[in-house]
Amino acid sequence: MGYLLDFENLVKEQLERIEMLKNEPGPIDFSAIDKIIIGFIDGDGIGPVIMKETRRVLDKLLTDDVAAGKVEMRTIEGLTLENRIAKKNTLPDDVLEKVKECHVFMKGPTTTPNMTMDAPNLESANVALRRELDLFANVRPVSIPEMGIDWTFFRENTEGEYIVGSHGVEPSEDMCVDFKITTTQGAERIARMAFDYAKANGKNRIECVTKANIVKKTDGRFLEVVHRVGKDYPDISVEDWYIDIMTANLINEEVRKDFQVFVLPNLYGDIITDEAAQLQGGMGTAGSANIGNRYAMFEAVYGTAPRMVEEGIADKASPESLLKAAELMLRHIGFVNEADRLKKAVYTVARDPNIRMTGTKEGSTAVEFADEVLKLL
Ligand code: IPM
Ligand code: MG
Repeated sequence: MGYLLDFENLVKEQLERIEMLKNEPGPIDFSAIDKIIIGFIDGDGIGPVIMKETRRVLDKLLTDDVAAGKVEMRTIEGLTLENRIAKKNTLPDDVLEKVKECHVFMKGPTTTPNMTMDAPNLESANVALRRELDLFANVRPVSIPEMGIDWTFFRENTEGEYIVGSHGVEPSEDMCVDFKITTTQGAERIARMAFDYAKANGKNRIECVTKANIVKKTDGRFLEVVHRVGKDYPDISVEDWYIDIMTANLINEEVRKDFQVFVLPNLYGDIITDEAAQLQGGMGTAGSANIGNRYAMFEAVYGTAPRMVEEGIADKASPESLLKAAELMLRHIGFVNEADRLKKAVYTVARDPNIRMTGTKEGSTAVEFADEVLKLL
């Protein structure tokens, strides 16, 4: 019956977390910071390749600000699979400490071992960072101008199936139970961020995606909170969807043309933002922002591409996704002009017939892609 105790402890911990959420300070004001510190974490696999190019582009965009002491860029070592295994810690303390000295950071993909791999079954570094730094909003834009698509997803990023994902219990040899958690405070802060974004960007509609007909408690609460928050934004309507039909509608041209802003729980957001990225041209084309009130992490959406590393073609990895994440980072810290310039340059290079990021021997390299972006800046 040890699992009952496990469950009790887990509930206690989450109730304590709610008390913290109730007292959390509001978002950081970047315009009031003298020097903004940006960290860089390479990650595993193709991570170092795409990070190097992203850094090169940011170095150019922020040259003057670095010279003026307004921005500092720092490399953070140690978030590699080897080091995490050696330390038996998915997020080594010294790495976390260095991350916390930064205001924001860029992160390359990190490997998450699973049952089938010959490595300790460590928790995802990504999920640990999101939780430890309380990065509650996963913001993922998808834009396909030629199809009239301009979507922004606000995925709740710390709760749902993820928050105690590695604390499931096995009450018997033949039974496993995992937990899904929604808190009022957690749902409220992501909802507010989505509505504020909609309001600030002239959007008049929000798609709220759940499976509240079946997952009644957690998704039910999420839905309820989104509607309650929506009352403060009378010019924005809320449309309710279940995740299954929304998955279908993302490929329904008639319906999807009206979508603007989405707000949704963690796992559903994980799944359909991949679908949306695929519509845009693939996972390699999407950037992802993980935003909290104090810290923020910006990353590529895809993984470490072990196949490319094994085949010796890691240099052919596309930096597009990480460059888009860099754009989101610049916007977040208030460098809107630089963000717009980067967005335009990446958009142009991604459509340049001379640059073909195929991830194969024949494709262009990350260096070539970044060189073209640099020329346009
Ligand atoms: C994502 C990824 C992560 C997630 C993995 C790497 C833990 O799929 O950022 O969408 O599941 O959230
Ligand atoms: Mg995902």
